[in-house]
Amino acid sequence: MKIAVLPGDGIGPEIVAQAVQVLNGLNLGLEMTEAPIGGAGYEAAGDPLPEATLQLAKEADAVLLGAVGDWKYDKLERHLRPERGLLRIRKELNLFANLRPALLYPELASASTLKPEVVSGLDIMIVRELTGDIYFGQPRGISTLENGEREGINTMRYNESEIKRIGRVAFDIAMKRSKKVCSVDKANVLETTELWRQVMIELSAEYPEVELSHMYVDNAAMQLVRAPKQFDVMVTGNIFGDILSDEASMLTGSIGMLPSASLDANNKGMYEPSHGSAPDIAGKNIANPLATILSAAMMLRYTFNDEANATRIEDAVKKALADGYRTADIYTEDTKKVSCSEMGAAVLAAL
Ligand code: IPM
Ligand code: MG
Repeated sequence: MKIAVLPGDGIGPEIVAQAVQVLNGLNLGLEMTEAPIGGAGYEAAGDPLPEATLQLAKEADAVLLGAVGDWKYDKLERHLRPERGLLRIRKELNLFANLRPALLYPELASASTLKPEVVSGLDIMIVRELTGDIYFGQPRGISTLENGEREGINTMRYNESEIKRIGRVAFDIAMKRSKKVCSVDKANVLETTELWRQVMIELSAEYPEVELSHMYVDNAAMQLVRAPKQFDVMVTGNIFGDILSDEASMLTGSIGMLPSASLDANNKGMYEPSHGSAPDIAGKNIANPLATILSAAMMLRYTFNDEANATRIEDAVKKALADGYRTADIYTEDTKKVSCSEMGAAVLAAL
């Protein structure tokens, strides 16, 4: 089992190191090889997705990624910026299905900014389409009009088969959960998502046991903080999923808790925390490594079909939390504030 390890930028290397240690702790004989991506790729090879990194990722069974991005690259030409490396690897590997589970660990109920009774027992799976939509639609760009004024263009675009394949992922997941799918769109305004809604309705005929509902994205954003426990599986497009998954992460106490899996049609996957590279705290050993460690658990579950070891990692995370270990982002009174590496060590010890 070959894993391409791409630590990336900012806190990426620190958090990935902890996840690698946890994976090694399982003694599964995983073959892990590191390569640069994002700003690190630009530094190493003048490209946020160096050819060698892409090759390694293509040949691997799974990819473990930290995070990309740093303000110092904001002035680079767009195609050289770290985020481009991430978007390109998603597209190159055809990772169209992004799973972002928002699960509240009972110990963290008081770390959420919402009242404990609103979030306790929360367990939402956000299924975000990852290789289409306004992120990739053409035409795009900034150009100058005849009158000298500049204009920015992006194109929101989905075809039927793209909607269908992400819909299938959501319905299949719902079949293993409480059989409810909420499809999020803006069908009252945007034709792209009017089609999205139609295709979801057509697809639902194949899943008579699953209850399909629809919600406009603005309402969904509101409902997520008003009554988040009404949701089980949410399925949505790339841009809405980007926004709603950040919002959902805060229900769980911290964005530092939210793992993710990005899968192709054969369950090859890239696994990364849903949060960013947090350059402001990079190198300080204070970041929360749990989202990355939990992403490694998702890797075992989805790509390596190893439910037992995935659960072992998740149980070890629960144990570390139950024992009171907290990084700064989830620290509350009467718990033990620990560093990134101490949290990793606590999970490893619990394993
Ligand atoms: C995410 C991130 C990325 C995205 C950025 C870094 C390009 O916000 O994974 O959610 O927008 O998809
Ligand atoms: Mg995002």
